[in-house]
Amino acid sequence: MSLLIKNGKIYRNSSLTRKNIFIKQGKIAKITSQNLKAEKIIDAKNKIIIPGLIDSHVHFREPGATHKEDFLTGSMAAAAGGITTILDMPNTNPPTTDLQRLEEKRQLAKKSVVNYGFHFGSTDDNIADIGKAKNVASVKVYMDFTTGDLKLDDYEILKKIFTSNKTVAVHGENENIIKALELIQHSKNHLYLCHVSSKEELHYAKRQKIKNKVFVETCPHYLFLTAGDINELGNFAEMKPGLKTKEDQKALWEGIHNGKVDTIATDHAPHTKEEKMQANYPYGVPGCETMLPLLLNALNEKRIELKKIVQLCCENPAAIFKIKNKGRIKEGYDADLTIIDLDLKKEVKNENLLTKCRWSPFDSWNLKGWPVMTVVNGNVIFSNGKINNIKAKEVQYHE
Ligand code: NCD
Ligand code: ZN
Repeated sequence: MSLLIKNGKIYRNSSLTRKNIFIKQGKIAKITSQNLKAEKIIDAKNKIIIPGLIDSHVHFREPGATHKEDFLTGSMAAAAGGITTILDMPNTNPPTTDLQRLEEKRQLAKKSVVNYGFHFGSTDDNIADIGKAKNVASVKVYMDFTTGDLKLDDYEILKKIFTSNKTVAVHGENENIIKALELIQHSKNHLYLCHVSSKEELHYAKRQKIKNKVFVETCPHYLFLTAGDINELGNFAEMKPGLKTKEDQKALWEGIHNGKVDTIATDHAPHTKEEKMQANYPYGVPGCETMLPLLLNALNEKRIELKKIVQLCCENPAAIFKIKNKGRIKEGYDADLTIIDLDLKKEVKNENLLTKCRWSPFDSWNLKGWPVMTVVNGNVIFSNGKINNIKAKEVQYHE
């Protein structure tokens, strides 16, 4: 199948140029001013086309909690949010901590309509499998309590995991971030600090930063909500790590501008409304459908540049996890593209969401700037609010 997306303003090499994108067999075959013949033509009508977003941190809940989300519904939400690739976390039930479970998850993920990859989980006795796990983004280490039961404390075990043959993605808060930074100093591995939420953590992460070795992720909820919002949202604004102060939020925004923050990922962590209303509610909020609109709205408010959005949500995740042929609009790369309309105003509404949990902490927010079409492997997966159920692929990594 061939597809020509014409009349788009393409984001490439930090600028926008009006070109047509000719797609063949799921790849960007040519970026051209010519009107090449194609089986299908899409008129982008002068809208901006950016690389599809890569969300390095989602919980699509398969296996074990498909009443909250599954690979189809989660990936539909992702596509509606302009995300064309997700990396799924291992705190499922059972957790993705051995080779057989990784294979099982691979089978389950086949229903995804966006491309997918996996983080492999760590336990106190799976170091052999961590070494053997093939085609995974990282080994995930839980150093603090959260959903799932994967918390690790033993220093000697942590040391082994930190020196395994994988990038280490860490869930840690406060002093555990310092511990992780200490552990990575004695290793040639890279450290990816998930959901950094405070000024102090950001300061530690980058004070000790060994160039190109420690990467910092933050999430939309820390950029757009603060602890004050818990008054109104209650448990629907409770996640791990928790929301922080305005001062922390300011530091994260500064981190985005001065390069201390490397990626923005959703930490899409759906739980049902009923679960969230219980006294012993689970932590986490969904985010796939709202991350890009929130960032585009911030762009319209001149709080962030398009260049930063593409860097933090497309280019950097691809580079950090060494994902092949993604993160840029480039000939030979996969045709994963997001068409955005910076003038479109829409309200976030729980009832319109595609995530199975059907709520968002951003419900009723009016945002200007939305993805209007999402192309995955050259197939239009999301357009005009509708999903095309075409299966996507597992990502591959450079060695
Ligand atoms: C996540 C979940 O529910 O799986 N919860 C959360 O509050 N972020 C787990 C996690 O990423 O910590
Ligand atoms: Zn998470």
